[in-house]
Amino acid sequence: MNRKQIAVVTGAHSGLGKEFVKLLTEDGTISEIWAIARNKEKLDQLISEFGNRVRVFSLDLSDRTSFSVIEKLFLEERIHITYLINNAGFAKFCSYDDITVDESLNMIDLNVSAVVALGLICIPYMKKGSHIINIASQASFFPLPYQNIYSSTKAFVSNYTRALNVELKNKGITAIAVCPGWMKTGLFDRGTIGADRATNNFSGMVTPDVVAAKALSDAKKGKDISIYGLPVKLTWLFSKVTPPKLMMRIWLMQQGIKP
Ligand SMILES: NC(=O)c1ccc[n+]([C@@H]2O[C@H](COP(=O)([O-])OP(=O)(O)OC[C@H]3O[C@@H](n4cnc5c(N)ncnc54)[C@H](OP(=O)(O)O)[C@@H]3O)[C@@H](O)[C@H]2O)c1
Repeated sequence: MNRKQIAVVTGAHSGLGKEFVKLLTEDGTISEIWAIARNKEKLDQLISEFGNRVRVFSLDLSDRTSFSVIEKLFLEERIHITYLINNAGFAKFCSYDDITVDESLNMIDLNVSAVVALGLICIPYMKKGSHIINIASQASFFPLPYQNIYSSTKAFVSNYTRALNVELKNKGITAIAVCPGWMKTGLFDRGTIGADRATNNFSGMVTPDVVAAKALSDAKKGKDISIYGLPVKLTWLFSKVTPPKLMMRIWLMQQGIKP
């Protein structure tokens, strides 16, 4: 019996993740899309919207016991993983002391540890032509005061993914870091906590569908980084030739924040 070709998408019921699910349902080579997030009701809506090729798993990826649940599922089924899309993540727009130690560590658990763990768990089920798509951010380009943990987690994701891509070359598997600018999604509902000093200039916001489409297309081309839109590309290039201290000063001015 042939193995099922599956795609695993985390943070799948909303924002960017939902756009990935939508695009993957249009790919006839994928037998099942395994959609992971915490909210079961919202996950179930994916099945109503996109049909039974979507299977849903309500798991908290900041809880490490979830990884063994996923590993067990992989062992029980005959699968090949064509896509792993590590998309679940969250930000907090505030100063370091506006959130608790637990909230800070939870951000690292989801944005970093889950990305690494799922990659390591999925790679043995991948083959030549499979893709790992890790969602970083333009926040990875330089350190961001008042988003210090978020931007650091995304810098990790970007560096880790691009280095992993080199290590996976001999297997024919690609890993790509997706670095979106601001997108119109639920990120802001969880990220905005009414802090005195916080990111509040979200200029150049795009819808997530265009970012997802470019990410899938760039992954198929074997790229190791995907950046949608000229303003974000220019920020990336500018950050390569500008000292981080100056980038941070410009960022604070743009955000109207006095440090
Ligand atoms: N929006 C932007 O401007 C922007 C810019 C650059 C990068 N990004 C990145 O894009 C990715 C997608 O975010 P989004 O903008 O689409 O935001 P979103 O609409 O808030 O989506 C986040 C998704 O992650 C899931 N999630 C959150 N905590 C989770 C947990 N502990 N375990 C499992 N799933 C969890 C959420 O579902 P549940 O709450 O049900 O778990 C939701 O489906 C994130 O990595 C984000 O950092 C966003």
